[in-house]
Amino acid sequence: MKQIDPCTLVLFGASGNLSRVKLMPGLFRLDALGRLPEKMAILSVGRSEVSLEAWRADIKGMLDAKFKKGYDQKVFERFIARNFYHANPPTDPNAFAKMKDKLSDEATFPQNLAFFLSVRPSDFAQVVDQLAEVGLTNEDKYWRRVVIEKPFGTNLPSAKELQASISKHLKESQIYRIDHYLGKSALQNILLQRFANTVLEPIWNSEYIDHVQITNTEMLGVGDRTQFYDATGALRDMIQSHVLQTLALTTMEQPKDLSPDAVRAEKIKVLEAIRPIPVNDIEHHAFRAQYAAGEINGEKVPGYLEELGDSSSVVETYAALKLFIDNPRWKGVPFYIRTAKRLHEADTRICIRFKKAPLQIGNGQHQNWLIIGIQPRECIKLEIESKIPGLDINTRTIELDAANRQDGDETVDAYEALLLNLMEGDNSQYLHISEVEAQWRLVDPVIEAWAKDRKPVHQYPAGSRDPEASKVIFEHEDQFWRYSIQLGGDAH
Ligand SMILES: NC(=O)c1ccc[n+]([C@@H]2O[C@H](COP(=O)([O-])OP(=O)(O)OC[C@H]3O[C@@H](n4cnc5c(N)ncnc54)[C@H](OP(=O)(O)O)[C@@H]3O)[C@@H](O)[C@H]2O)c1
Repeated sequence: MKQIDPCTLVLFGASGNLSRVKLMPGLFRLDALGRLPEKMAILSVGRSEVSLEAWRADIKGMLDAKFKKGYDQKVFERFIARNFYHANPPTDPNAFAKMKDKLSDEATFPQNLAFFLSVRPSDFAQVVDQLAEVGLTNEDKYWRRVVIEKPFGTNLPSAKELQASISKHLKESQIYRIDHYLGKSALQNILLQRFANTVLEPIWNSEYIDHVQITNTEMLGVGDRTQFYDATGALRDMIQSHVLQTLALTTMEQPKDLSPDAVRAEKIKVLEAIRPIPVNDIEHHAFRAQYAAGEINGEKVPGYLEELGDSSSVVETYAALKLFIDNPRWKGVPFYIRTAKRLHEADTRICIRFKKAPLQIGNGQHQNWLIIGIQPRECIKLEIESKIPGLDINTRTIELDAANRQDGDETVDAYEALLLNLMEGDNSQYLHISEVEAQWRLVDPVIEAWAKDRKPVHQYPAGSRDPEASKVIFEHEDQFWRYSIQLGGDAH
């Protein structure tokens, strides 16, 4: 357990959805687990005037909604006593100076300050400017950290602009850029499984691996977020962030240790080694589609364009890319990454297919697959060929299947882990600016090309599998989308 300095978490946007559902309950759980330092305060900042009493009652409501089975009253008393509120009306030019005044009460607010900006992305730069103006980003005596929520920009130029703006006031070590996927234990496990075992590393390269698939699919549609989604799309929403981070963890070289700098340096190297997608041959490297009306769990659901009420939208709810990594380890290995809404299954996994065995014995011999399940099932599974007992020589696939999660294991939400890392000063699970930029650099040309191409987008019925047409990105005819992670399930 790392030592945490006494500190104050200043939470902008504390009345918002993220704070209600993840941050406040996450902080409460950390308190219950004894992971918050004794001297730690939470100052929530919002535009409206709210009394301390009303704010604490609001927090109780957030906890009641989250922990339906109840919670420990002693922990609640301790937690609620840490919580304070400050109104920062946008019309008040002295709002930030008043906040600084409030924070100067050292008996209540430890002076190491972490500012969590759970506000609209368009407000990130301005809040940092205002914090700096009143001297709250100054690290002369105490540490000062700023968490920037996702997304960091909406393309490379806007990410650079945001970076230029905040880096006037903050050093890289003070900036904590969130991709909450990195807080997931199953994602952190990729590194552990790769580098804490001797058996995997020797085969983790182009000599043995035929191709890799990284998949993140949902059965849910866009719901009531149609306007947000239509301004974003699957590529920007999921691939630019979570899926590329999963790819980086799967493909990076071994860091010299698990320090934040060493881990991020290797991720940056591999992200920067991904070959740009050739825009003049985009149709063989990138595929998009939209869900049409269909059925999910036996229920009829409308299509994306219908939900949006705009039949001219070309924004994708399905995106698949073929990528190559130009380094010696991954020379010539295709990486197929995809994300989709309203597919027939909700699953996040990494599927690695190995090359054909040198000896081909009879018909029906399959290539080995190694599958790392991330969500909903956390597992690692190896499919190998084995002799069918009997007089003849025939093979079948058997599996070594291990659940990562065992009865009684702790379940930690990604935000809990990230909040703890923030207070510890460990930014290895947060993004370095070079990672963010490499990720935008890769997807921007595709986003731009797709936005310009106004032809109707390929449709797939909600609840179906990948559109047949998506196979256009496969490098070889014998490659196919890998589905169920269960053996005997539908692998093809
Ligand atoms: N919700 C999630 O699961 C999720 C997931 C990934 C990323 N994020 C990111 O996390 C951040 C917060 O998300 P959220 O869903 O919690 O947002 P939200 O509920 O829409 O808003 C957060 C807070 O921002 C303030 N706010 C809202 N509208 C505003 C306006 N017009 N002008 C100024 N302030 C305004 C409000 O606080 P006051 O009125 O009290 O000032 C509100 O509580 C965003 O950057 C989002 O992109 C959220």
